[in-house]
Amino acid sequence: MSGDLKWNKILGAGLATVFVILVVREGTAFIYHNEAPEKMGYLVNAPEEAAGGAAEVVLPPDWGTVLPIADLAAGEAAFARCKSCHTVDAGGPNGIGPNLNGIAGRATASHAGFAYSDAMKAHAGTNPTWTLDELDLFITAPGRHVPGTKMSFAGIRDTATRVNLIAWLRSQGSAGMAIPAPDPARQPGAAPAAPVEGAEAAGAENGGQTGGAPVTGAAGQPTTAATPAAPPAATSPAPPNT
Ligand code: HEC
Repeated sequence: MSGDLKWNKILGAGLATVFVILVVREGTAFIYHNEAPEKMGYLVNAPEEAAGGAAEVVLPPDWGTVLPIADLAAGEAAFARCKSCHTVDAGGPNGIGPNLNGIAGRATASHAGFAYSDAMKAHAGTNPTWTLDELDLFITAPGRHVPGTKMSFAGIRDTATRVNLIAWLRSQGSAGMAIPAPDPARQPGAAPAAPVEGAEAAGAENGGQTGGAPVTGAAGQPTTAATPAAPPAATSPAPPNT
């Protein structure tokens, strides 16, 4: 009996604490007038840096200029982030992801013995080859470039790191893939002829297309209602390497 009373007290104390916390929170919200931000925050699939403003046009790397001077050692170091899932040596086994030997110039979703996602197989229909640009877009934000991919990796937002990594990948079995000539249209200051394919998808993703479940709704209320709107293609769990 007295035991029951003791638990009542403990429970009561707990509830009182929660009540006080709520009062303080609501109180401060009232005092500081918590206005809903103009632009809502979303969990973007690219944690390293916030995606550039939607209006910002990002030129694709000018491979003919950047590849010959890329830092291969830095590229190899960057591959450390891929190693948990990929081997790159010729004839290396598939892991969580396919072996990446000769990936630059290799046919998309073509490595023997690897079960690609439907998303990647569909992507191969429109993008049959891992060109330098394709690799760059995919590594920048895998889930954005190939929505539904089972590569659960957040992406590398830093262009220099990606360029070094792609240069190093090219040295792993893709040496036959010619480096394109420098392209003035891709050099800084050039008026972009055509926006990078996929660049506009960033904006769409911010609308919650890809794993972009809103963090909070208006006035910080958790938005339970918003989540079922996400597409069924379950984007991967938390990215392991960020
Ligand atoms: C958590 C595991 C994981 C990590 C880390 C990872 N990948 Fe992947 N990767 C995968 C999986 C799984 C696939 C297959 C994707 C699919 O079928 O949708 C894949 C596919 C790919 C493909 C397409 C291969 C093909 O044959 O079409 C490339 C290119 C690639 N990854 C590059 C990288 C690079 C570069 C890194 C490091 C920056 C990396 N991945 C990190 C798991 C991973």
